[in-house]
Amino acid sequence: MDFIPFLDLSRQYQKIKQELLKASEEVFEASTFSLGPSVEKFEEQFASFCHVKHAVGVDNGTSAIVLALKASGIKEKDEVIVPANSFIATAAAVSHIGALPVFADCTTDTWQISPEDVMRKVTSKTKAIIGVHLYGMPFDIECIRKIAEENKLVLIEDCAQAQGATYNGISVGNFGKAGTFSFYPVKNLGAYGEAGAIVTNDDEVSERMKRLRNHGSIEKYVHDEIGFNMRIDALQAAFLSVKLKHLNEWNLRRREIAEFYKVAIINPKLSFQHVPEKCHSVYHLFVATTEDRDGFRDYLNHHKIGSGLHYPIPCHLQKAYASLNYSKGDLPNSEYLSEHCLSLPMFPELRQSEMEYIVEVINKY
Ligand SMILES: Cc1ncc(COP(=O)(O)O)c(C=O)c1O
Repeated sequence: MDFIPFLDLSRQYQKIKQELLKASEEVFEASTFSLGPSVEKFEEQFASFCHVKHAVGVDNGTSAIVLALKASGIKEKDEVIVPANSFIATAAAVSHIGALPVFADCTTDTWQISPEDVMRKVTSKTKAIIGVHLYGMPFDIECIRKIAEENKLVLIEDCAQAQGATYNGISVGNFGKAGTFSFYPVKNLGAYGEAGAIVTNDDEVSERMKRLRNHGSIEKYVHDEIGFNMRIDALQAAFLSVKLKHLNEWNLRRREIAEFYKVAIINPKLSFQHVPEKCHSVYHLFVATTEDRDGFRDYLNHHKIGSGLHYPIPCHLQKAYASLNYSKGDLPNSEYLSEHCLSLPMFPELRQSEMEYIVEVINKY
């Protein structure tokens, strides 16, 4: 068996190469490279995919969160509750607008933001909660939304890892003021470069985000406020339109691989993320925990199996947030995850023979 990569994007590229080349040719022929018709087309298609009124394309998933926060009225010094067990971009977006991220722990079984800890973290300065649908699985939307409503807080869903996931049959991105997406290449729906989007059912928020992404302007050279250059480029939008057509099929395949792992791996040394019935995960990642994580990782590597760590340092203990004065022990569940988690190969083009080999190796561990 050749080395099994944690992720191999080239397999997917080979399958859709002709469609991508045709789409890029259309953009070159039209010669509009930033915003324009291919962006509008993708925005319509993505809004329809998420069953929302509006989708606004931007240059990446971090910008998407920045715009969602700004368009929702979050200001400097406001407190925004975010999960510690996540990629740092969620917290960083809060910091970029001068607001203060307040880290909440995760639960012990779903590994998602813990409603109990969010409740403990709400103060008179709290203005928003950003939940992350981590690893492709919706967080506990019902409980988090209730806390947001009771405390008059803006709820933003960070859907960067969850394109196509649903909660109670409803697409993520529909539950708060806005849902933010990253199309970083490794995502379930990934660009060939950088891209992101925000979805919302709020007309005003959508309008404001469209203005903010384009130097505060809707009409050329008329600037109603100081905005950013966070425009999505047309080639990425065209590629995303091609890939969106395949997304349901790819997500289904991810779910098949996850089911296969869950049934076939019978080694009691491993635990998996608990997926509540209401949650339809699209398995952006397949994460396991085990006592000797580093030993297990070496073992997999020795047997030519790639793996990932999501994430080895929880946000509250990152040097970037040293000024917030968190200490080890403050968020024990997130800290446990960071020391014990390991992600197995998970991408739609993973071959049956590779999956069987991975399971065989793990069961012998
Ligand atoms: C949960 C989460 N939020 C936000 C981001 C930021 O997206 P980007 O890298 O496109 O800025 C990412 C991924 O990269 C992510 O995984």
